[in-house]
Amino acid sequence: MHHRLPLLALLLNLLSAALSAHGTRGAAQYASAVGDPGMRRDGLRVAFEAWNFCNEVGKEEAPGMGSPRAADCFDLSSNSTLSHKVTEEVNRLGVGKSFPGLNPDALDDPDKYAVEKELYLGSLCEVPDHPKPWHFWMVMLKNGNYDTTSALCPENGAKSSPFKPGRFPCFGDGCMNQPALYHQPTEILHGGVMRGWFNGTYDLGTSESGSLSYYEVIWQKQVGEGSWVFSHKLRTSKKYPWLMLYLRADATSGFSGGYHYDTRGMLKTPLESPNFKVRLTLDVKQGGGPKSQFYLIDIGSCWKNDGSPCDGDVLTDITRYSEMIINPDTPAWCSPNQLGNCPPYHITPDDRIIYRNDTKNFPYGAYHYYCAPGNAKHLEEPVSLCDPYSNPQAQELVQLLPHPIWAKYGYPTKKGHGWVGDPKTWELDVGGLASRLYFYQDPGTTPARRIWTSMDVGTEIFVSNKDEVAEWTVSDFDVLLTPKERSSDESRMFL
Ligand SMILES: *[C@@H]1O[C@H](CO)[C@@H](O)[C@H](O)[C@H]1NC(C)=O
Ligand SMILES: *[C@@H]1O[C@H](CO)[C@@H](O)[C@H](O)[C@H]1NC(C)=O
Ligand SMILES: *[C@@H]1O[C@H](CO)[C@@H](O)[C@H](O)[C@H]1NC(C)=O
Repeated sequence: MHHRLPLLALLLNLLSAALSAHGTRGAAQYASAVGDPGMRRDGLRVAFEAWNFCNEVGKEEAPGMGSPRAADCFDLSSNSTLSHKVTEEVNRLGVGKSFPGLNPDALDDPDKYAVEKELYLGSLCEVPDHPKPWHFWMVMLKNGNYDTTSALCPENGAKSSPFKPGRFPCFGDGCMNQPALYHQPTEILHGGVMRGWFNGTYDLGTSESGSLSYYEVIWQKQVGEGSWVFSHKLRTSKKYPWLMLYLRADATSGFSGGYHYDTRGMLKTPLESPNFKVRLTLDVKQGGGPKSQFYLIDIGSCWKNDGSPCDGDVLTDITRYSEMIINPDTPAWCSPNQLGNCPPYHITPDDRIIYRNDTKNFPYGAYHYYCAPGNAKHLEEPVSLCDPYSNPQAQELVQLLPHPIWAKYGYPTKKGHGWVGDPKTWELDVGGLASRLYFYQDPGTTPARRIWTSMDVGTEIFVSNKDEVAEWTVSDFDVLLTPKERSSDESRMFL
């Protein structure tokens, strides 16, 4: 009677079986929300997008590159060849060139064209599935230069005016250009290893200082075994001192974090906190210097200040982000004498509220920085407002640091956890934590449903006086839907 395990052991067994059941439907309770659970599917789907400072294109400046959207999608045939879904001609499509389904209004508008190109790539890469078809993992690259004299980026979603340079990096004309993009379509190498890459630079000319900015994402997998391993590299340069490179899992439709238009992605089931967990393996090989805000995970969503869902109106939609920064050099800007950098309160795993003026109990060291949406009407002073220019709409940020207070959610609890020399497979209760973070809402309004449309891992290297390099790998990415618990947002309504 070897099946007669004690009940607890049986439950643990079921749980671990469900968690390791990648590539299958798994136990019903722990279904995966991503199209490619654990990155194990031989037929890969990966796409590329590049953004300027306000998450748009601006100009297709890199010669011959087209619109900065591309994809590498293929199926593995039984005769061990790869049948690609996207040609290089499609990857190079840019303004002025039509393609099936293109809205004529978008033909000569670089911002709208990129949106439609992503939908087109999605249609070519789409994999039928339940409850919805899905498209691709997304490599996202962003340049932090802002030419303040251009007034190109809106201010909290509203039309902005030019202002004096100095607040943001920009070397002059053309500092907001899109990068050169090179692509090795995935191929099968000797021994059944599949491998492909995207790489390139923002420095389109030559550089006086010699060092050019660089980004690279290489994906590799043994046919029929294990996970795809995505190896990333990012280097800043004098002209491009602030760069971001992430691997994202975005919703298959709707507004993913940071967008105000329909996108394509990997998350085929909406992720509503608290009922999901994220599993992934991260190996940081090189940190990117003291200003590298490495996000073990960054989650993004969008809702209005009255709690209603976003509808694409940039004046009232607010992007909400929360990210755990694992670089041990990142300090807590939130402190008893800098309360404006802390959220108004902290919520414990058992749903107790600790106000930030409760200096005995508030976990200041757990928060790098909190900033409120620039258009919120009822903010509690002191408060720090988020940068109004770097998203198409206003934004709110809750940035966390490793701290014992996060132990319950499986997040890093000590400086250095998960950092260089400490590769790990994480199982993060992202949903549980995300339901207990403070986010602004107008007083008396019904709490927003927290549906997370985007999650990513990677780094944002801020301006420093030297060129910095970060290198890391991501594999085994999965999002597990966990059995429903009562949302703590609901219980907080009555506090
Ligand atoms: C392998 O299969 C694909 C798809 O069925 C086919 O197009 C291709 O010609 C085959 N290649 C070889 C070398 O047999
Ligand atoms: C991209 O990678 C290829 C292959 O490793 C390399 O030859 C090329 O120089 C890289 N591109 C850039 C811009 O460095
Ligand atoms: C702390 O902050 C809360 C919320 O703003 C406020 O109600 C309370 O009076 C403050 N306590 C002290 C001691 O200042």
